[in-house]
Amino acid sequence: MVDNFAKVVELRLSPKRFKHTLGVAETAEELAHATGVCVEKARVAALLHDYARELSPETLKGLAREANLDDQFSLNQPELLHASVGAFLVQRELGVTDQEILDAIISHTVGRRKMNTLEQIIYLADMIEPNRDYAGVQELRAAASQNLKTGVVAALDHTIRYLLNINKPIHLHTIDARNYFLMGGD
Ligand SMILES: [Fe+2]
Ligand SMILES: [Fe+2]
Repeated sequence: MVDNFAKVVELRLSPKRFKHTLGVAETAEELAHATGVCVEKARVAALLHDYARELSPETLKGLAREANLDDQFSLNQPELLHASVGAFLVQRELGVTDQEILDAIISHTVGRRKMNTLEQIIYLADMIEPNRDYAGVQELRAAASQNLKTGVVAALDHTIRYLLNINKPIHLHTIDARNYFLMGGD
């Protein structure tokens, strides 16, 4: 089953993004192991997290409308829709019904308050998997090696700082998630 998911996404994604996906799976498995989460579930969520990542903005918008997933913020930045549309498609096309896996796919781009442990794992693994190479990634890996929540807060901080620096809008879910975890939520 898990191997099938790897094959399915390999056919949908560019070699570079498939490599990223395998990196997310590797990191997610490590984080799952460290936090007592089902490793296979983490692997499946990781393999499927970018299922819709290479669909065109028009296709993403069309599917988001069909599934009632279109919020104004994401319609203005349609690449963000790949998360919720991805969850919609893996349900429809692959028959994935595990809500925890679907939630982890949905929240992997902008995060959200009260992300459960699997959601936190996929959110963080997406940003620190071994193929990621950007200024600050080592600091995020160091934070993640302390514990999951420290890693998640560092990742949210990094994203917010980055978006401020490039003068891009910040999704309210990202700020909400940062406040939630910074103020002790788990
Ligand atoms: Fe993604
Ligand atoms: Fe990703």
